[in-house]
Amino acid sequence: MTSLNNATVLVTGANGGLGTALVQAALERGAARVYAAARNPKEWDDKRVVPLHLDLTDPASIERAAGEAGDTTVLVNNAAVFPRGDLLSAPIEDITATIETNLVGPIRLTRALAPALRSAKGALVNVGSVLSWFAIGKAHSVSKAGLWMATNAIRLELAPDGVQVLGAYFGPTDTPMQADNPSPDKHKPSDVVAPVFDALEAGEHEVLVDDMTQRVHAALSQPVTALYPALASR
Ligand SMILES: NC(=O)c1ccc[n+]([C@@H]2O[C@H](COP(=O)([O-])OP(=O)(O)OC[C@H]3O[C@@H](n4cnc5c(N)ncnc54)[C@H](OP(=O)(O)O)[C@@H]3O)[C@@H](O)[C@H]2O)c1
Repeated sequence: MTSLNNATVLVTGANGGLGTALVQAALERGAARVYAAARNPKEWDDKRVVPLHLDLTDPASIERAAGEAGDTTVLVNNAAVFPRGDLLSAPIEDITATIETNLVGPIRLTRALAPALRSAKGALVNVGSVLSWFAIGKAHSVSKAGLWMATNAIRLELAPDGVQVLGAYFGPTDTPMQADNPSPDKHKPSDVVAPVFDALEAGEHEVLVDDMTQRVHAALSQPVTALYPALASR
């Protein structure tokens, strides 16, 4: 169980759609300080927010940011990229950059901040996706599936030291990442962040925010064609 009241929270991708909502919600829940990490940090209109430079594809940037935010008690690995190209035809650099940003970078940052999280008996929140379990996101899905398992593995590594690890999973949300998705049914970022932080403060390991995500997760125990019915006719 992790209270955000008086916590020192680091949010990656803080300038993005979910990131902005995460920063605001952490402040509303009483965070004493919020490191708003971004490739291009901006000023915020709350003195508790500390802009922090972070590029998850650059190990030196990760080490520097972790050094500057060594009092972090709650790390939220939120930043990610979502290139649309196919795994077999997009430039391989797009694939490796996606895995570097969405999977390896968060692991590096968690390693760098693990001493702080352990000494605070704090928490780690990894932002996954319904695409952790559904392949239509291509490289993004690959990276998010990896992050899902990294979250599970890191949870086991941190549990003995009293650090909570929450994996957060949800479907389409109205942010720049989904600007090309015309669906009227996208979540509002604040509607996703509320159950995620509720789950954190309730001491949960995992939160599946919506029905779509719960259905996709449940289908993993069925034959592959349950998630990919077009394959049934082959
Ligand atoms: N939107 C959805 O439908 C949806 C659904 C399920 C899960 N999610 C997850 O929610 C999280 C937030 O996504 P979002 O929807 O808020 O997207 P977003 O608005 O595009 O925000 C993503 C953020 O990640 C940052 N970022 C990208 N590459 C980075 C790097 N190398 N180093 C540091 N930061 C980097 C971006 O920074 P810049 O500002 O510098 O570009 C951006 O602020 C992601 O993990 C995403 O997978 C989103």
